[in-house]
Amino acid sequence: MSYLHGYSDEEQKRLTEQAEFLEFQVFQDVNFSDAQHILEVGCGVGAQSQILLRRFPKLRITGVDLNEDQLKTLNRRIGSGEISKERMSAVCANAENLPFKEDSFDGAFFCWILEHVPSPEKVLAEAKRVLRPGSKVVISEVMNSSFFLDPYSPNVLKYWAAFNDYQYDKSGDPFTGVKLGNFLLNQEYKQIRTAVKSLYFDNREPLKRENAIDYWTKLLLSAAPQLLLEKYVEQETVDGMKKELAAIAKNPSAVFFYAFIQATAEV
Ligand SMILES: C[S@@+](CC[C@H](N)C(=O)[O-])C[C@H]1O[C@@H](n2cnc3c(N)ncnc32)[C@H](O)[C@@H]1O
Repeated sequence: MSYLHGYSDEEQKRLTEQAEFLEFQVFQDVNFSDAQHILEVGCGVGAQSQILLRRFPKLRITGVDLNEDQLKTLNRRIGSGEISKERMSAVCANAENLPFKEDSFDGAFFCWILEHVPSPEKVLAEAKRVLRPGSKVVISEVMNSSFFLDPYSPNVLKYWAAFNDYQYDKSGDPFTGVKLGNFLLNQEYKQIRTAVKSLYFDNREPLKRENAIDYWTKLLLSAAPQLLLEKYVEQETVDGMKKELAAIAKNPSAVFFYAFIQATAEV
């Protein structure tokens, strides 16, 4: 499947910055203090793994990712000691077909992965197979129709529609978030809960708003080469979007809004 963000060095750096920027919203209700060894599905370069290891000092993680470039970077970080080799290992595999036996882990963490797979339920079924009964799963997923910027920014929204169309056309799903409850129910997970997590910044928190706009600008631009190449957007729209984002970054009354969904459940 074509991957919207690509695997460049810049993109790998963006993933780490993104995880740090969203740490509060993603982790405020995450608790793996009772778990010993969890599976991280779609671990990428280890941006979330590092946060998990810091927050839960007794935890061990096995990360799985389909992409060798992501894992090369993660393994470099493990090799250099930046991420503890006693506590983290990484395996190259498709999340639909995991190279682990039944009952291998006592928890699982998924962040921004199910939106990229053609069959999220297959991935959830496979994760359930390798988890022990009683294991907790935490899944964070996008709900891209929630994004809004004030002042109204037509080029940003036009580009955003193309960004989402592209993901949809490549068998991903930019609206996965709201479907997590149904997916987990269909796969017979228990104790299913969903929460809406929001990034809502206005004049009350100007610094956070500035950071959010900066983060979002990088997220949008990460897809520009691919969207231009495959003619999902015109250069004119990208240029218009850049102008609108630069103006919004300086606007003292701007509003940034985005919401995603976090689901928790048990096996
Ligand atoms: C947006 S990145 C998120 C990475 C990490 N969870 C984070 O938040 O930084 C999505 C990751 O999922 C991986 N991925 C996509 N489809 C996959 C699959 N079927 N099996 C395993 N990994 C997959 C990609 O290679 C990529 O590293």
